[in-house]
Amino acid sequence: MKHNLLSQKPKYLLFFICLIPLSRNPTRGETPQVYCTNGTNYTNGSKFETNLNLLLPSLTTNGPLNNNTFYNTSYGKEPDRVYGFAQCMSGAPIGDCRVCLNNSWVQILQNCPNRKQAAIRYYNCLLRYSDWRFFSQLEVNQRVGLYNTQNISDPVRFDTLVRTLMENVSTTAAMNPSRIATGVTNYTQFASLYGFGQCTRDLSNRTCYRCLEEAIGAIKWCCDGKQGGNVYFVSCNIRYDIYPFYPASVNPIRVSIPSPLPDADTPLWNSSPNKSDDVSKQGKKGKTSQSVAIGLTVTFVGLVLLGCFIFLLHRRRKLQEARKQQRHHDLLNNLGTDTDLLNTNISEGSPGEIHKLPFIDFDTIRHSTSNFSSENKLGQGGFGTVYKGMLVDGREIAVKRLSIDSGQGLKEFKNEVILISKLQHKNLVRLLFCCMEKEEKLLIYEYMPNKSLDFFLFDQIKRAQLTWRIRHNIVNGIARGLLYLHEDSRLKVIHRDLKASNVLLDYEMNPKISDFGLARTFRENQGVGNTKKVIGTYGYMAPEYAMHGRFSVKSDVFSFGVLLLEILSGKKNSRSYLAENAQSLLAHAWQLWCDGKMMELIDPILIDSSPMDEVLRFVHIGLLCIQEDATDRPTMSSVVLMLGSKSVTLPHPT
Ligand SMILES: *[C@@H]1O[C@H](CO)[C@@H](O)[C@H](O)[C@H]1NC(C)=O
Ligand SMILES: *[C@@H]1O[C@H](CO)[C@@H](O)[C@H](O)[C@H]1NC(C)=O
Ligand SMILES: *[C@@H]1O[C@H](CO)[C@@H](O)[C@H](O)[C@H]1NC(C)=O
Ligand SMILES: *[C@@H]1O[C@H](CO)[C@@H](O)[C@H](O)[C@H]1NC(C)=O
Ligand SMILES: *[C@@H]1O[C@H](CO)[C@@H](O)[C@H](O)[C@H]1NC(C)=O
Ligand SMILES: *[C@@H]1O[C@H](CO)[C@@H](O)[C@H](O)[C@H]1NC(C)=O
Ligand SMILES: *[C@@H]1O[C@H](CO)[C@@H](O)[C@H](O)[C@H]1NC(C)=O
Ligand SMILES: *[C@@H]1O[C@H](CO)[C@@H](O)[C@H](O)[C@H]1NC(C)=O
Ligand SMILES: *[C@@H]1O[C@H](CO)[C@@H](O)[C@H](O)[C@H]1NC(C)=O
Ligand SMILES: *[C@@H]1O[C@H](CO)[C@@H](O)[C@H](O)[C@H]1NC(C)=O
Ligand SMILES: *[C@@H]1O[C@H](CO)[C@@H](O)[C@H](O)[C@H]1NC(C)=O
Repeated sequence: MKHNLLSQKPKYLLFFICLIPLSRNPTRGETPQVYCTNGTNYTNGSKFETNLNLLLPSLTTNGPLNNNTFYNTSYGKEPDRVYGFAQCMSGAPIGDCRVCLNNSWVQILQNCPNRKQAAIRYYNCLLRYSDWRFFSQLEVNQRVGLYNTQNISDPVRFDTLVRTLMENVSTTAAMNPSRIATGVTNYTQFASLYGFGQCTRDLSNRTCYRCLEEAIGAIKWCCDGKQGGNVYFVSCNIRYDIYPFYPASVNPIRVSIPSPLPDADTPLWNSSPNKSDDVSKQGKKGKTSQSVAIGLTVTFVGLVLLGCFIFLLHRRRKLQEARKQQRHHDLLNNLGTDTDLLNTNISEGSPGEIHKLPFIDFDTIRHSTSNFSSENKLGQGGFGTVYKGMLVDGREIAVKRLSIDSGQGLKEFKNEVILISKLQHKNLVRLLFCCMEKEEKLLIYEYMPNKSLDFFLFDQIKRAQLTWRIRHNIVNGIARGLLYLHEDSRLKVIHRDLKASNVLLDYEMNPKISDFGLARTFRENQGVGNTKKVIGTYGYMAPEYAMHGRFSVKSDVFSFGVLLLEILSGKKNSRSYLAENAQSLLAHAWQLWCDGKMMELIDPILIDSSPMDEVLRFVHIGLLCIQEDATDRPTMSSVVLMLGSKSVTLPHPT
């Protein structure tokens, strides 16, 4: 069946888009899947057009009212009759679906002008019209494939796993009245494979299953050898990947797939089942080939034995690893009794899984970083050195190896680990694993290919890559990440060391705040703390913190303000606020503000290519954040509001 699909000469447009592996947020800016069918065109001013113009608003209005079931209708008389279909997808909330269908209405006309048949699919909704009654009919003629660009290291085993999982998901989805299902299964010891499938709800259980089968068949066409993939038809779509791409509220069915073979020797096995066939065919040719056959058989048996041996070896190693992991857990559980942290019931994120921070073996990490070689060194942070590593499944990681004399005891370390693992936000760098063994303490984070903000911002050449659009996105991302730390997570977290080198950038230059080593948690109404040890980076520290060790969310706001001014000016605020004769960036900024010459502060690269009113507005917000009196500084929620809205009038900074 899959061969049919692959060899079919496409009568239609095939789209092939490269997916950037981002968890899919149903937002504006999402690229929809558009299916325009060639067929005949309607002409401007025709009856068909009139009917279509009645149909689309009706679909947009009524589609969301059906609680994620579909809405179908038709307008006009044959031959100008137009049939329409709308459905909220993926269990989208009504509000999101309404916006989505409204978008679809505009987009379908723009993307498929004058077409008599067209469909458009967003994450949240699907809209389709046609000149024939297509309801409940399978439509798999046009397909769209998207894939995760990362290669998989063991494609053969992975492919089997994907198929088995997706079979289960497809069957479950087809049986489910809502025609949607998710599943998850173990991939490696550390990673899971997640699957998702859904059909439009007008399909019967059989038709839905057929559609999903076609989609599974198309995986090879779309996403062979990749870590994840999507196949979209008009009638259904599937997706799989090695990270949980659906919202945290979704609780996927755990699918147990007996894994008969370990990774290493899979290729051997996969090529062997048909060996005996080949042998018998060759057998008819003559005597020489008989000895070849015997030779092959012997080799085959040898391979089987070898396979068994490797399998046993692997299993023993696995058992040892499991025991080791158990010891780690025991250790962690026995450490201290910081019940405040342990008992804090975090409600965000999905329950269970996410907060069970996986431990990883020290030797695995040592191996992945080539024994912490200097070539793999990414940088030196306050608490230790950061290395780049690669796990056996091909995932890149950043390993923070805490220096033994950092003064961070086991308990502090444990606190940090628990804290970080509970904080999940797209603008916070994600902790993947942790490792504690003997004297070694390691934190393993997702790897950020674009390093940190200072790397770009304070480099004469690289700075040019930071266009206004990118800087705008970075500023907003940092603000949201910080807001999450301050207010949206139940634990109130003060970062205390926000600076350009602690803002990491992913492949799309999205900012992620890192290094919560200094963060402390606060219970409600305990917003202000006092500390003996002042930790932080001069230049970013609020005066009350630098001088009196008093810190609060407002000292983070100060650091944010400094960072914002650095981003806008492209200059580093190297001087401490405390320095005498301070002609620091901040003092300079104040001076220019008072003289009304703000333009001189702005990075010249931005001047001609950016909306100046917006840039100056950001400078203004930056100045509000670095006001000397902490009470005058806005909270991060006001900052986010001010950054996002042109209509909020800003107070005068003092
Ligand atoms: C459909 O359109 C594409 C280009 O727009 C063309 O290459 C293809 O031949 C057309 N197919 C049919 C059946 O008209
Ligand atoms: C219909 O219109 C599209 C774009 O306007 C054009 O590419 C296509 O060739 C037309 N098809 C026919 C059959 O005229
Ligand atoms: C139909 O009208 C739209 C604008 O309403 C125009 O863009 C398009 O070119 C017209 N198509 C034809 C075939 O005249
Ligand atoms: C919509 O569906 C959900 C679950 O499928 C159900 O809990 C809810 O009551 C339904 N709402 C309406 C208005 O039918
Ligand atoms: C909508 O679809 C259902 C199921 O396929 C069909 O029975 C019904 O007639 C359709 N409604 C309209 C208005 O065509
Ligand atoms: C739909 O989009 C139009 C503009 O295209 C807008 O005026 C209208 O408010 C939108 N409606 C909804 C419900 O979003
Ligand atoms: C994936 O593998 C292909 C060849 O199989 C190679 O060309 C490509 O660069 C690899 N991509 C990555 C991200 O490793
Ligand atoms: C599939 O649908 C048919 C007809 O609606 C029904 O008779 C059958 O029981 C369904 N099968 C399953 C497994 O739900
Ligand atoms: C999917 O997997 C789960 C767990 O292994 C199993 O209980 C269920 O029966 C499977 N469903 C199908 C349709 O195979
Ligand atoms: C999947 O992995 C988890 C943790 O690594 C383990 O507890 C569980 O037994 C595994 N499940 C299967 C079916 O192998
Ligand atoms: C094994 O051989 C049979 C018949 O020659 C063929 O149908 C099948 O696809 C082959 N399997 C593999 C895994 O090559």
